Amino acid sequence: MNPVALNELIASRRSVYTSQFVPGKVIPEEIIRQILENACWAPNHGNKEPWQFQVYSGNGLKKLANLQAGLYKQYAGEGFKEIKYEKLRNNPLRASHIISIGMKRTKGKQIPEVEDIAAVACAVENIYLSVTAYGLGGYWTTGGITYMEEAKPFFGLDSEDRLMGFFYLGYIAIPSPQAKRSPMDAKVSWIKE
Ligand SMILES: Cc1cc2nc3c(=O)[nH]c(=O)nc-3n(C[C@H](O)[C@H](O)[C@H](O)COP(=O)(O)O)c2cc1C
Repeated sequence: MNPVALNELIASRRSVYTSQFVPGKVIPEEIIRQILENACWAPNHGNKEPWQFQVYSGNGLKKLANLQAGLYKQYAGEGFKEIKYEKLRNNPLRASHIISIGMKRTKGKQIPEVEDIAAVACAVENIYLSVTAYGLGGYWTTGGITYMEEAKPFFGLDSEDRLMGFFYLGYIAIPSPQAKRSPMDAKVSWIKE
């Protein structure tokens, strides 16, 4: 283990959006599998492993694009915006792979929901870091149909579960600019006595 390399990996992780991807360049499935393997090593309370992923690629991207655009059109009502509809229909086609991020509650003795959500977010950070380590780009989006109750069954989720968004992946054509964070000391207090 090289902690200096890890520090660098964490600080260099950036969200890379579809407009920055190399169009049409597909990530080998072994890499996607390893990224998901890393996701599944996330910490989780009670060993519930509450993450549930679906991986879209090839024609699967079209299927997801049509599904999300269709659901949006069906349920948007008065607030329907053509531009949003077109984005939902086209944006997935720019990715190599898209992973839907689900939180699945297990039956029986449950831990607080927020902890299952936190565990899935840890899994997504593992995805982010793995993507960075492979020199790939990607980002987590919670836009579109993420919070639509009607979308859940399409992602293998029941009403007590949550759809937590989508992770888009691709090769990087245009890297993201360097990011900034507030100084750590603005967020940390030390209690020693
Ligand atoms: C829970 C969560 C939801 C996000 N949803 C979106 C989104 O819907 N659209 C988007 O463009 N970026 C989304 N992002 C990515 C953030 O915009 C991004 O992480 C932030 O700008 C910081 O940039 P960085 O990831 O490069 O450090 C999301 C990130 C998180 C953690």
